[in-house]
Amino acid sequence: MKTTQDKFQHRINDYLATKLNDMPQNDPTLHQAMTYGLLLGGKRIRPFLVYSVGQMFGASLNELDDAAGSVEAIHAYSLIHDDLPAMDDDDLRRGQPTCHIKYDEATAILAGDALQTFAFELLCQSAHSPVTQIAMIKSLSQASGYQGMCGGQALDVAATNQQVSLSELEQIHRFKTGALISAAVELGAIAGGANTQELCVLRQFSKNIGLAFQVQDDILDIISDTATLGKPQGSDLAANKSTYPALLGLEQAQLKAAALIEQAISSLEELPYDSQLLQDFAQYIIARKK
Ligand code: IPE
Ligand code: IPE
Ligand code: MG
Ligand code: MG
Ligand code: MG
Repeated sequence: MKTTQDKFQHRINDYLATKLNDMPQNDPTLHQAMTYGLLLGGKRIRPFLVYSVGQMFGASLNELDDAAGSVEAIHAYSLIHDDLPAMDDDDLRRGQPTCHIKYDEATAILAGDALQTFAFELLCQSAHSPVTQIAMIKSLSQASGYQGMCGGQALDVAATNQQVSLSELEQIHRFKTGALISAAVELGAIAGGANTQELCVLRQFSKNIGLAFQVQDDILDIISDTATLGKPQGSDLAANKSTYPALLGLEQAQLKAAALIEQAISSLEELPYDSQLLQDFAQYIIARKK
């Protein structure tokens, strides 16, 4: 799993670097800020999912690069905006000053905006049929916008300094983080030609790993350290964010994440494919330290 993770990480980094280099550099500062937000670090778990799901269904890595790059571009944009003073107001990301600290707020906002549209440009230039391209664009746009990441971020902001119920918190996490993780799985499945029933099984899987991923992110905010995380440990506590450990306590949050991963892995058993890589990845979500 580690070797494959490294391989996919290098692959997506090279792919994204090439695509950014190919862009005309109209505004060098904006281009640098986009490059900064997209290329400097990151675990690349969403591209990993696109590649591993797509490969499981027989797609080649070449056929998956655009989809993998597009989800990562949306993710990078979401992080740049998430760190802004108007949102989480964080000054460290991936071990470096956040985009608005390195550049300025206007540049960071625009870099996020431009990375968002860049994601859809990548999907449009892929070699897939127009029907497949539209299916991918639909999946990614829904997961990124009002019904997905942006909607979740709005709920997250509204829940800050507030007491929310467990079901409200689950909804926030499913939207702000789960939706994009599900889109990564779905894009891989679409590129690989998965059928409706297979998509249905994968949705169960991604729903559970997506929520678990954000629960673990909340846990790491407490139990990890700034150097390992590359982002400020204790940021959620300092900002009085609604998180799983805040609501349930650390131990119950850890049990919740483990139960979600168990469910995710058991849903994979319904697929007549070798899903070992996805099973290992699911375990990694709760074992990770950053
Ligand atoms: C952090 O995402 C933000 C969340 C949605 C939890 P990642 O943990 O995937 O961040 P990088 O890309 O590895 O920096
Ligand atoms: C981020 O959640 C979700 C996004 C859509 C970016 P967090 O605010 O917990 O992410 P980190 O901890 O800053 O990476
Ligand atoms: Mg946030
Ligand atoms: Mg944040
Ligand atoms: Mg967090």
